[in-house]
Parts: sequence; structure tokens; C-alpha cells
Amino acid sequence: MKFSIIFQLLLSSLLFFHNCHQCQATKRYRFELREAKYRRLCRSKKILTVNGKFPGPTISAHRGDTVIVDVINNGNYNVTIHWHGAPMNRYPWTDGPEYITQCPIPPGGKFKQRIILGDEEGTIWWHAHSNWTRATVHGAFIIYPTLGTIYPFPKPHAQLPIILGEWWKVDIQTLYYATVRTGGDPNVSDSFLINGQPGDLYPCSKQDTFKLKVVQGKTYLLRIINAVMQNLMFFGVANHKLTVVGSDGSYTKPFTSNYIAISPGQTIDVLLEANQTPKRYYMAARVYERTLSVSIDNTTTTAIIQYDSLDDSTPPLLPILPNSSDLNASIRFTNSLRSLASKDHPVKVPLKITKRLFYTLSINTLVCQEEDGNTCQGPNNTRLAASVNNISFVNPNISILEAYYHNMINGNFMTNFPDKPPKMFNYTAPFLPIKLELPKRGTKVKVLDYNETVELTFQGTSVVDGADHPMHLHGYSFYVVGSGLGNFDKDKDPFNYNLVDPPFQNTIAVPYKGWTTIRFRANNPGVWFMHCHVDRHLTWGMETVFIVTNGKTPESRILPPPPDMPPC
Ligand code: C2O
Ligand code: CU
Repeated sequence: MKFSIIFQLLLSSLLFFHNCHQCQATKRYRFELREAKYRRLCRSKKILTVNGKFPGPTISAHRGDTVIVDVINNGNYNVTIHWHGAPMNRYPWTDGPEYITQCPIPPGGKFKQRIILGDEEGTIWWHAHSNWTRATVHGAFIIYPTLGTIYPFPKPHAQLPIILGEWWKVDIQTLYYATVRTGGDPNVSDSFLINGQPGDLYPCSKQDTFKLKVVQGKTYLLRIINAVMQNLMFFGVANHKLTVVGSDGSYTKPFTSNYIAISPGQTIDVLLEANQTPKRYYMAARVYERTLSVSIDNTTTTAIIQYDSLDDSTPPLLPILPNSSDLNASIRFTNSLRSLASKDHPVKVPLKITKRLFYTLSINTLVCQEEDGNTCQGPNNTRLAASVNNISFVNPNISILEAYYHNMINGNFMTNFPDKPPKMFNYTAPFLPIKLELPKRGTKVKVLDYNETVELTFQGTSVVDGADHPMHLHGYSFYVVGSGLGNFDKDKDPFNYNLVDPPFQNTIAVPYKGWTTIRFRANNPGVWFMHCHVDRHLTWGMETVFIVTNGKTPESRILPPPPDMPPC
């Protein structure tokens, strides 16, 4: 009896000392970029890795911590690393996108990157941000609750990342340069991966299929990350329901579903209860692609869930996933996401808006110019491009952040990115005049004043062809207040906005021939990339940059740069 009282006193004092917001820690990691040989689909190839691992190492921290990563490039080409979902408050210097916040780290170079976390709790991730190197250079980034606080759901028995990836038999640099050279769609991949493995349904893969051993009656937290390059995905587990509890480092109201829809860049945390007859079950993922004119890799990647009491080799059951072109299944899932909106995890959606933006997202074509070995394998002998407000983004030669910080804007970029498209048209009409296909090319950014409250509507178009565009913003998470199919109606649609418990995301799939509205407060000064997370669309120019100015107080200014910025 006495003992338990003493124990309780001890425990509560421990909790008291840990339950503070000043006790953030600093953690350190070493990331060595290097080539390593990996065998998949009966063939070996050399890939760029971090520390020889694929997928790369998992980073973990507690809410509000700072993480320092020493990035050392011992690979053969330029690279940068981005911390996808970390807000990097006032410190864009080590955010990572090449030619936006830094020049790439050359072979033989290093860069000490400081990652500043905010209120995120859950799963974010990290990946390379230099041409298509992220195909093999990526990993999970887990953020636990602050010490002394708990998950808003019963503590799971175990938790693990489930990383969806994409594999080509050819070298990824070769694929990238071939795509740029031909001006057409990239060759489709040879397989998808779960935690680096294609799974049983592919040749030479059975031995190495990823397995999760579970104990009957226990609950597992799966931190699902879509690190696929070119596709949105459906994912599910045979016979098991998934309870969604978080997305993009933010808790959601729990809801159950037989499948999830997850776009490149996004993370979804789900609870899986091992409550079925002890057998083997597949978890599986395959493409969601509504654009029927695009060829897809329609293979299925699998991993195995195995109840531990079992000694059985009967073939596992496959989950029933929505059809690969099922737009409604994708939308239904995405629209089910709601912020938790509890006392401990409140919603702070801006209600008074000071800046309204309307951005069209289009696939485009460029007139054929066969120079420097380029060819024109886009539709009707053109080169494919993509744009935001009809501007196809061109990278500058130095980084926009450095040019801005050192007052060298002239000649490097322009600050006249438009607040709306140059022309209004029926954005989602089935047929559109061919002249709408041609974008302007340029390096234009949008300047936002510190603390402005921004409402941004993304409008997908059917120029060339409609597509789902997972839009990602660096430096911020945003509230997704509304979305719909067809053209956005500024007089009607805002009445249906969810200003009570909108999900808080850093990546949101704007639906095929539809629109999505987000809101955020521009309270993080810096230079922040915004782009489609489908890598071919990014390569074709579907991106722009926000510069958020400094505020008036010292605490609202960009911090000074580190001494070891990679040279431009
Ligand atoms: Cu996941 Cu600009 O990145
Ligand atoms: Cu896109």
C-alpha cells in the first residue's frame, strides 16, 4: 500500500517535470549519400541511398524538438534533402528544394541541416529534392507526443512505417534525362513497393516480401507514407478495417474504412486491430489514376500480415481495392478526413481572409523545338509541360532564397506571379481550344505580407487532359476547407466551406477536373516552394514559390543563414 503511494508520487512528479513546453530536445543524425547495389525483380542495380539503406533510415523526435542532420554527399551526383512536413519556422535555409532555398550539395560536399518542428504530431517524412533522386532517397520521420502527453487514442501495441515506393529496372537518372529529352510521358515503372519490397505477385520477389507479425487482439499503428513518384494510390488490408487517426502530422477524427486513398507526399496514420481468424492476410496497394490517356503500371504490391500463433502456408487473401480509375472512391476517402478539433489539438482556421488567390493547374504542350538532342514525343509532336496560372516554372541558376536574402532579385526571378489565371474559360470543359495549351515559361513568385490570412483555390483544368494534382506547400500546413468537381463557383461554393474541423494537411489531392480551397496564416517568413507532388508534373513546371516577408518584431524575421550553404 505504502509502496504504491510512494510510486504514484514518484510517477506524478516525473510527469510534472516532463509535462513542459520548454523541454524540447535536440537530436542528431548522420546521412551519408552513397551508391548501393539492390536486387529487385530478378535484377541488380546501383541506387543512390542514405547510409546504404533503402528505404532510408527513420528519423524520430518528439513534438517541438529540433533535429540536426549532417548530410554528406558521397554519391555521384548533386543532391538535396527536404523534410516534408517540417515547418522550419523562420529557417528556410535547410528546407532542401534545389534552386529554391539552396543550390545542390555536389559530390564530395556536405551540409549540416537543422530541422525545426512545430506543433506536428504523427508522421511526416524526408526525401531528396533534386530531379528524381527521391525515388530511392526517402524515409519516415516520426513525431511522438511531447514527453508526458499521450496519443488521443489508446496506445497501440506496436507502431511502424509502411512506405509505398516505386521501382524501375532502369537507372532513375537515365529515366529522368530520357523524359526531359523526349518531351513525352516517362516510361511506367516496373513495380510498386511496400517498405522497399515488391511482394509475392512479382517475379523473384516472394522470399523478401515484407512481413508484419501480429498478436491476436492487439492493435498496430501503421504510419503509411506515399513515396511513389508518379501516382496516387489505394491501399487496404484483407478482411481488416482501418481506423484513420491522423494525416500529414496532424490528428484526425477517427473513422473506419476498408481502404485508403493516399497521394504522393501524403501520410496517413491508421490503427489496425488484429481481430480476424489467425491466418495470413495481404496488405496491398495499387494505382489510382483517373486520367485514362496516361498509361499506368497496373501491378499490385503486397506485404503480409501474419498472426503469430500460426504455422500455415495457405496463400494469403488479397484485399478488395477500388478500381484504379475510381474517382469517387478517392474523393470519398479524402473528404472523410476531419481535424480532431479537441481541447488539446484545437483548430485555428483563419476566418477573416486578407488575401484571396485562384490558381489553375494545367497540363500543357510546348511547340516542338528539336534542339540540344531534344525530341517531341508529347501529343501531336509537341513537348509536354505543366503550369500554375499558365506559368510553367523555370528554375533559376542560384537559389531564390539566397537571391532574395542578399537583394539580388533582378535577373534571377520576378515577383509578379498573378493572383488569378490570365484568361477565364470553362476550365473543366470536355473539349478546349488548342491555343489554351501553350503556357508562358518563367521564374515568377508571389510575395505575401507577414501574417496575411490567405485563401487559395486550386482549380484543375482539362487542358490537354484532366488529372489529380496532389499540391504540396513547404513551410506550412494548411486547412482544407472545401473541394468539389467541375468549376469553382465563388458565389455558391464558399457557403459550404468547413470552418469547424477542416483537415490540417501539407499535401492535398485536387480532384480530377475539380477544385480545392485551402486556408493558412502567412506567419512563417521565408521562401516556400509549392508544387504538384507527382514528379513528372513538377518536372514539367507545375510549381511556384511564396515569399513571406519579415514581420516587424525580431521574432518574426528570417534567421541568418548557416555558414556552410552549398555553393551556387
Ligand atoms: Cu515532398 Cu517539395 O516535397
Ligand atoms: Cu500534378
